[in-house]
Amino acid sequence: MNILVINGSPKGSYSITLQTVLYLEKQFPQHKFTVLHAGQRIRAYVRDFSAAAQELEAADLILFSYPVYTFIAPSQLQHFIALIKESGADLSGKFVTQITTSKHFYDVTAHRYIQDNCQDLGMKFIRGLSADMDDLLTEKGRRDARKFFDYVLWCMKHDSYEPLPKPGEPTAHMPVQVPGGNAAASAPASASSSTIYSEASDAKTESPFSTDPAATKKAAKTNAAQHTKHSIRGKDVVIVTDCRPEDT
Ligand SMILES: Cc1cc2nc3c(=O)[nH]c(=O)nc-3n(C[C@H](O)[C@H](O)[C@H](O)COP(=O)(O)O)c2cc1C
Repeated sequence: MNILVINGSPKGSYSITLQTVLYLEKQFPQHKFTVLHAGQRIRAYVRDFSAAAQELEAADLILFSYPVYTFIAPSQLQHFIALIKESGADLSGKFVTQITTSKHFYDVTAHRYIQDNCQDLGMKFIRGLSADMDDLLTEKGRRDARKFFDYVLWCMKHDSYEPLPKPGEPTAHMPVQVPGGNAAASAPASASSSTIYSEASDAKTESPFSTDPAATKKAAKTNAAQHTKHSIRGKDVVIVTDCRPEDT
């Protein structure tokens, strides 16, 4: 099988994340891994994307390999994804997955960003691996990497992939863990040093995007009440999800 690795780290072959890919290449020698240093060579891809588009279309599996930088994928990788879309390359029906390394701070956001963009391109997205930057140095980390790749191969064999959200359906609830935060009341006992920010309370929050002025006014009031109900005093981290000019 031809695996095209999109290395989104600007560090190129010195990327920590890429070492997990190189480890898998050694463990699964029956597959051919080709690496595009998208992060490091982004300027060259801006000048000419045609060879990259051809390689993307020829791959059996596309594997995004990148670090989480400032809560999301590196800007160079975001640019590369924009170039894929601009190029008009047809990637629909192609399998895709991802490997990241990070300190697990907003890795969920980064994974979601890549998943949504791949699904937007009509690709068959397989759940990725979110490794800690030191994981490859431990037996457990190496075992997790091998298990992940076995899972990818199994998914491809059985044509199994993450379902596309149906139009109008709310996106899946994915709790974000913040290391060092206060333990929230809703957090499970195992989350000792993390705060789990649940989106569950959003169900009660009115949508601010209504074309009906009366509904918009009601939504603004309800959302403001929701914000003040959860006192921010004593919290280590406050995430502002939206604000109107008069709130600043
Ligand atoms: C500028 C910068 C921003 C980072 N932002 C995050 C972050 O938001 N969340 C996180 O968990 N780790 C973050 N990290 C840690 C990296 O994800 C981690 O060091 C990663 O293993 C680097 O991978 P690479 O060598 O493949 O580029 C950041 C590192 C740098 C240098």
